[in-house]
This record gives sequence, C-alpha cells and structure tokens, in this order.
Amino acid sequence: MDLTGTSAVVIGGTGGFGSATVRRLVTAGVHTVIADINDERGNELVAEHGDLAHYVNTDVFSDESLTATFAAAQDLAPLRSVVIVHGSSQGGGGRLVGRDGQPVAQEGFDKTVEIFLSATFRALRLAAASMATNEPLESGQRGVVIQTASIAGYEGQVGQTAYGAAKAGVIGLTLPAARDLAPTGVRVMTIVPGTFFTPAFQMSEEDAYSRFGQAIQNPKRMGRADEYGQLALQIMENDYLNGESIRIDGALRFPAKAN
Ligand SMILES: NC(=O)c1ccc[n+]([C@@H]2O[C@H](COP(=O)([O-])OP(=O)(O)OC[C@H]3O[C@@H](n4cnc5c(N)ncnc54)[C@H](O)[C@@H]3O)[C@@H](O)[C@H]2O)c1
Repeated sequence: MDLTGTSAVVIGGTGGFGSATVRRLVTAGVHTVIADINDERGNELVAEHGDLAHYVNTDVFSDESLTATFAAAQDLAPLRSVVIVHGSSQGGGGRLVGRDGQPVAQEGFDKTVEIFLSATFRALRLAAASMATNEPLESGQRGVVIQTASIAGYEGQVGQTAYGAAKAGVIGLTLPAARDLAPTGVRVMTIVPGTFFTPAFQMSEEDAYSRFGQAIQNPKRMGRADEYGQLALQIMENDYLNGESIRIDGALRFPAKAN
C-alpha cells in the first residue's frame, strides 16, 4: 500500500512502541494521529514532529472516543492504517493458586482481558468500520489494522495466565478478523513482540536486560522500539501480509519462569 496522502492512527501513540511508530509514519509523510490519554507527552510529540503529527486524547475503552479519533484522522486524509498498541499496568497477574492456598483473584484476570483483548477488539471493529467507508485504492485495498500481542500469548510464564490468555486472544482474533474484512479490502495483522526496552519497564535498560534479557538469542540485546515501528511500516506497505501474527523477538522463547 502506498502511504502517500493517507492518514494513520496510533492508539497508545505516546508509549514506547507507539511513539516509535509515530516517528516512522511521520518520516514516511503520513498524517499521523497520536491517540492516547497522555496529553503532556502527546503535545511534546506534536512539537517534535511538526505538521504531520496530531494529538487527539483517546480512551481505548470508549466507543465514542475512538469513533471521534478515527473521524479526526479521516478529516486529514483517508485513514488507511491503524496501529493498536496501548498498554497499562492496571491488569492483574499471579499464580493460579498462591503459596497460601488461595486462588488468584478473578478481577485481575477480567481486567487484563479487558485491557489487552476487549479494548483491542473495540478498536479493531471501529477502525474497520471507518476504513470501510474509504474509496478503494487501485489494488482494491482500503487499509490495514495492526494489533499488538506478545510472545507470552504463545509461551506465557508462571503467573501470566491472564496476560498470556489475553495476548493469545489477540493472536486468535487475527485470522477470523482478516477473513471477515476480506470483502472490504481491509487487512488485519498482529505484531508479536519479545522483550523490548520501553518506558513500560520503569527501570534502566541495563537492569531490564540483566533481569529479562539473558535468554535472548541473537541479537544479544533487548529489542528496540524502532524495530517495532519499522515492522509496522513494512506490514502497512506490503499488501500480501494478511491474517498472520509475526513474532519479532531475536529468537527468544520464554522459559516457564522469568528470572
Ligand atoms: N515492551 C515490551 O517488551 C512488550 C513486549 C510484548 C508486548 N508488548 C505490548 O505492547 C503494547 C505497548 O507496550 P509499550 O511497551 O509500548 O508500553 P508503554 O507503557 O510504553 O505504552 C503504552 C501506552 O498506552 C497508553 N494508554 C494507557 N491507557 C490507555 C487508554 N485507556 N487509551 C489509550 N491509550 C492508553 C499509555 O498512556 C502509553 O502511552 C502493550 O500491549 C504490551 O503488552 C510490549
């Protein structure tokens, strides 16, 4: 897909992966809506990137908010790319049955699924409905939605039942969504990251690597957020990528337990 003269929305656009994707999009000349709840960081990014970057306060848990954001992007140029890459530390984790014999709280599981799976579905269905109104390109394509899972969706670790299930759900959404949207010419892809150094870690890169990075095979380092952004752009540009989840992890496979 030729991105010239198009717009994009990045949900979670001020985060680690999100801001790296915004940078790539703006560099490619795309009108880019940074959709997030972090107004301060959103405005900083607009100041940094200039005219092609726009910040719209967006709550991924609200239909109304997402619909308004997609409409704002359509006002700039046809909306052809949506990247769903929000995150939150408000979910819950923990062993199914703790050392004290108590089962893990149900609420943590429900919240985690709401954040990572239900909100992704919310953004996917509203993005697709907005893109379906686009004039098709010569190729018959109308746009692409890129979701974000995690390798924990394949190899969830001890204490990750909720996160692993939510991310596996995102992977599971990918093919049926692509099939549903085939008649509209909207593709659906999922990026499945390993361990990337982003602000979500709330520690130095060295500390993060020594805690989480030992099992990474090659390159022998954590992923860089820009490598996520690069893959997102590659997916947008390549029409034949559809209905698939792509791991980007330096051949990392999570062991049962984190260090
Ligand atoms: N960093 C990694 O190693 C890694 C690995 C695998 C998967 N992921 C996934 O990638 C995604 C993003 O991760 P990140 O590391 O960039 O996180 P991050 O914390 O840097 O960014 C998350 C962004 O989401 C925004 N956000 C929070 N609540 C929101 C809401 N209600 N509406 C809109 N935006 C909201 C935050 O303000 C923040 O800008 C998450 O889904 C995470 O599970 C990350």
